[in-house]
Amino acid sequence: EQAGKGGYDHFMLKEIHEQPTALAQAIEGRVDSETPAIRLEDFRNGTFDGVENVQLVACGTSYHAALYGSLALNRAGVRATALLANEYSASSPPIDDGTLVIAVTQSGETADTLNALRRANADGARTLTVTNVVGSTAARTADDALFIRAGPEIGVAATKTFSSQVVMLLLLAQRITDDARGEPAADLDALLSELRRMPDRLDALLSWSDAEAIARRYDGSQSYFFIGRGLGFSVALEGALKFKEITYGHAEGFASGELKHGPLALVTPETPVFAVFTGREDEKTLKNAEEAQTRGAPIVAVCPDGHRAVDVADAHLEIPETHPALAGLFANVQLQLVSYHAASLLDRPIDKPRNLAKSVTVE
Ligand code: G6P
Repeated sequence: EQAGKGGYDHFMLKEIHEQPTALAQAIEGRVDSETPAIRLEDFRNGTFDGVENVQLVACGTSYHAALYGSLALNRAGVRATALLANEYSASSPPIDDGTLVIAVTQSGETADTLNALRRANADGARTLTVTNVVGSTAARTADDALFIRAGPEIGVAATKTFSSQVVMLLLLAQRITDDARGEPAADLDALLSELRRMPDRLDALLSWSDAEAIARRYDGSQSYFFIGRGLGFSVALEGALKFKEITYGHAEGFASGELKHGPLALVTPETPVFAVFTGREDEKTLKNAEEAQTRGAPIVAVCPDGHRAVDVADAHLEIPETHPALAGLFANVQLQLVSYHAASLLDRPIDKPRNLAKSVTVE
């Protein structure tokens, strides 16, 4: 097992560091930033013809990737909703000819997600899975499969697969709208050229990240809150999930605008607030972060250098300036590192947290 860790103390840290390679593999041959064009695999004829609404179903970290993807689809003009797979039959969202159901699942074996996928098939939806495992049950059950090519992920807490799922969903969103409109999205070239640069820039971030110092600084806090808006909201949810999974500490992710509708009652000097800035609606998030700061909470701004939030915040986790659709991914990697180092200080069994399994094959 030690050999498999490639010199890292844990698989999780190794997998965090594998993200530049995983992303490069995910986009290999699929992105042409010159033309600009997206060349995803050849899906069955008509997979995306007449798609009017997309339902993304997933659990855990994959659900947060689905949430990120649903926003990208909405912004590209396609109606999309992310649903927890285990709530899918209870919520019974209507399915018609124009419905595409996308099951997002790293393993392709999560029972809740497979159940939702089977229900979608039975109700006549077109189905697609975004998965890491070729030959998985999800890949065999859905009409089509899009593989994220992240390589094996051993740590129970998903890291590199989240990043690769998000990137594939961003590309898929462009492809679906392209098929619907017959012309590429307006800023496709900007997105694709930033995507091409992403592996190198992530590599750099992993070398200069201050996440360990931040984890030390706030070690022993009562609770950890993560806030963000839009794509930053899904990153806030994922940041909190990662933190609870491996540190066993109390962490919550909130839409930044929701703080004032209840969670603010929990905010004290003992509850650091990580605020994620993705370039859109940052002013509002900053205002919400300041409301928490007024109640004594230390604010950690996750944003580029030179951002206004840096002057206001108590601490800074830097991310590079990039396309707004990708900023959340850099922020998420910084938060993965914070959780990892916080768990490491507590000497937690990071790769195999208590009570959790890599893949949950029961309902
Ligand atoms: C388990 C894992 C999570 C994962 C979730 C969904 O609960 O502990 O890390 O996000 O399953 O897994 P999937 O394979 O469907 O992405």
